[in-house]
Amino acid sequence: MKLALIGFGTVGRGTYDILKARENILKDTVGGLEIAYIVASDRSAERLGKELPEKVVTAKDYDAVLEEVDIVAEATGAMDMAYDYMKRALEAGVAVVTANKAAVSAHFEELNGIAEEKDVPFLFEAAVGGGIPVLTPLRGLCLENEIESVQGILNGTCNYLINAMFKEGAEYDATLKLCQELGYAEQDPTDDVEGFDTRRKLHLLIEMAFGHVDGDAIPTRGIAQLNGDIVSFLNEKGQKVKLVASAKPVEDGIEAVVEPVILDAADSLAILPDAINQVNVKGSFVGDLAFTGPGAGKEPTGNAVVADIISAATKSAMPLLKRGVKKLAPVKGRYLVAKKLSGDVAEREEGDFTITREISREELLSLIDKDTFFARIESQSL
Ligand SMILES: NC(=O)c1ccc[n+]([C@@H]2O[C@H](COP(=O)([O-])OP(=O)(O)OC[C@H]3O[C@@H](n4cnc5c(N)ncnc54)[C@H](OP(=O)(O)O)[C@@H]3O)[C@@H](O)[C@H]2O)c1
Repeated sequence: MKLALIGFGTVGRGTYDILKARENILKDTVGGLEIAYIVASDRSAERLGKELPEKVVTAKDYDAVLEEVDIVAEATGAMDMAYDYMKRALEAGVAVVTANKAAVSAHFEELNGIAEEKDVPFLFEAAVGGGIPVLTPLRGLCLENEIESVQGILNGTCNYLINAMFKEGAEYDATLKLCQELGYAEQDPTDDVEGFDTRRKLHLLIEMAFGHVDGDAIPTRGIAQLNGDIVSFLNEKGQKVKLVASAKPVEDGIEAVVEPVILDAADSLAILPDAINQVNVKGSFVGDLAFTGPGAGKEPTGNAVVADIISAATKSAMPLLKRGVKKLAPVKGRYLVAKKLSGDVAEREEGDFTITREISREELLSLIDKDTFFARIESQSL
């Protein structure tokens, strides 16, 4: 089997290193995976051409690459270019493997449709939970079970930042700065802390588990409103808050949301350390499952890409169950709100905080401004 690696940054390099390190094993099992081309950016092609023994080309040579290879592994982090690379490969009957959650979330329906029409693998395990094998088992679980819920922590930056705030009792801005210095947060952290990265991954989980929804319409709130007062309040009560992605089928569609959630301090999501990710899946027959591991990193993510390459090479991915278009249902819950709320929504007040009765998220948003912290309560004891 011949392969082209597109993008040679963190994930591309991790993928390359694993393919090289496991070359003999893959020869004996899969029949060999030859890296025929590296497709690099115009900026890096010359440098990589001197460094690597493989043929290093750029986008202008892509048609010729597609004529020769069986699989492309896309790891650019680009948006429009990545979509173009993937679409052209699938249309040419070449299998596509990608780590690119943004491009897959934005174009899932179209790309998956082409893959089905052409009967070629289109796999993106690395796009959700980095190194955690979750989409691969989820495909199979969907054939054996009705999926009753998926829930998880899908962003290592937020998990690390929240853990640091609870440990140090520090304020949000100071902790974010520390995370940036340690390399756990980007210089522009918006995508992570506002929950958009988590939303894309939840979208892909929903596409696998429940059907097609408009990913951009999934209600999303990040952690930027968290502060030291909220952390102290929750610490005193033995509670923790995490940025949680959840989705479950309800009568009128799929209830899906990304928002801060209050958990008992011993909950498996509450104790999740560092930048680790976890996805909990509940199946009608199998029951509760938890998939935990490194949500990012060169080798863990490269491992997920290589796993998909092997599936594509052996055509061994489980079929994807088709379930059509689903409506997003209104989200409701009990909430902790960092504000005194008048009217009948309050179940009780504690200091400057309100604990609401079960209300719709939309009603809650109409009562607060964009800077007010709120979190859905899942803890049994608040
Ligand atoms: N890093 C992780 O742990 C992780 C985990 C899960 C998923 N992902 C996803 O994996 C993808 C890659 O992430 P990364 O961390 O590896 O990014 P990265 O380190 O920035 O690497 C991206 C690479 O793609 C190259 N590139 C950019 N545009 C290109 C183009 N049009 N054609 C060919 N090559 C191009 C870049 O070249 P230049 O350097 O010359 O621009 C760079 O070598 C992203 O979609 C990301 O969301 C990453």
